[in-house]
Amino acid sequence: MSSSSTSPVSNYIHGNAPEEQHRLSLLNDLLNEPLLRELKLNGGERILDVGSGLGQFSRAMARASGKSASVIGIERDQDQLSQARQLAEADAETELVEFRQGDALDLPLQNNEWQSFDITHTRFLLEHVQEPIRIVSQMKAATRPGGRVVLADDDHGGFQLWPEPLGFPTLWQAYIRAYQRLGNDPFVGRKLVSLLHCAGLTQVRNATVFFGGCAGNDAFDLVMGNLLGVFGGARQEMLDNKSLDQNSFDDAMEALVRWGDDPTTAMWYSLCYAEGFVPLG
Ligand SMILES: C[S@@+](CC[C@H](N)C(=O)[O-])C[C@H]1O[C@@H](n2cnc3c(N)ncnc32)[C@H](O)[C@@H]1O
Repeated sequence: MSSSSTSPVSNYIHGNAPEEQHRLSLLNDLLNEPLLRELKLNGGERILDVGSGLGQFSRAMARASGKSASVIGIERDQDQLSQARQLAEADAETELVEFRQGDALDLPLQNNEWQSFDITHTRFLLEHVQEPIRIVSQMKAATRPGGRVVLADDDHGGFQLWPEPLGFPTLWQAYIRAYQRLGNDPFVGRKLVSLLHCAGLTQVRNATVFFGGCAGNDAFDLVMGNLLGVFGGARQEMLDNKSLDQNSFDDAMEALVRWGDDPTTAMWYSLCYAEGFVPLG
């Protein structure tokens, strides 16, 4: 399987290799609880999770929303879907979420499912598509009047490491360029409010969810594992764009691993979060 899954308007840089699925799981361990706090579910919601990946957050929302919740996860990639189903089975949670194959740009909903969801959520998907407004518009159309559309995504402009590891700026720029080369948007996080507004959502609010850490913290190993995994998974795309060669890549990665063992290290980063309501009438 190649390291990226592509269509003309939706190019997923990270792919679905087992190491990448492991990284995605680490990321869920880090972010699901703080994101649920931001989401403030009332209980019993009907939820659509768009680009649900391995389904861990879809299931976390279902658990948090309680027995009368109903959650559907939409995922384009068959390997991600089958892994999501296996993980749910291993946790005896197959009843919690219906995982459905389909494209976020053309949601696979029945006629009676449009305008029916209390919450339509997506995380880490809009950065991987060329026209995120098309997905947000589909999400709005799936949500009932008075329901919420929730977007959570990266903005690679706000990433800071201190002390800065040798070769890191070049590595980071090559990663950003690899996104851009695929036609995707590494800076979509800052645009979430604008996307909601343009799609016709109201009462929009924004927030950030801390996604960093420092040496000595319990979660720092997870944060480091995610960072190294991100570069490892996108390595070929980063080399293809010719802004760094293989030796520079390997040297910068070694420096990053050493940096992770330094007791003074800190990583500053936040996930961008925005939500808006579908107008009532
Ligand atoms: C980084 S993962 C995030 C998964 C999940 N939302 C999470 O936060 O754990 C992005 C997922 O979106 C899926 N994806 C990418 N483009 C898609 C599209 N056009 N429609 C549906 N899923 C898509 C990928 O296959 C991948 O599983």
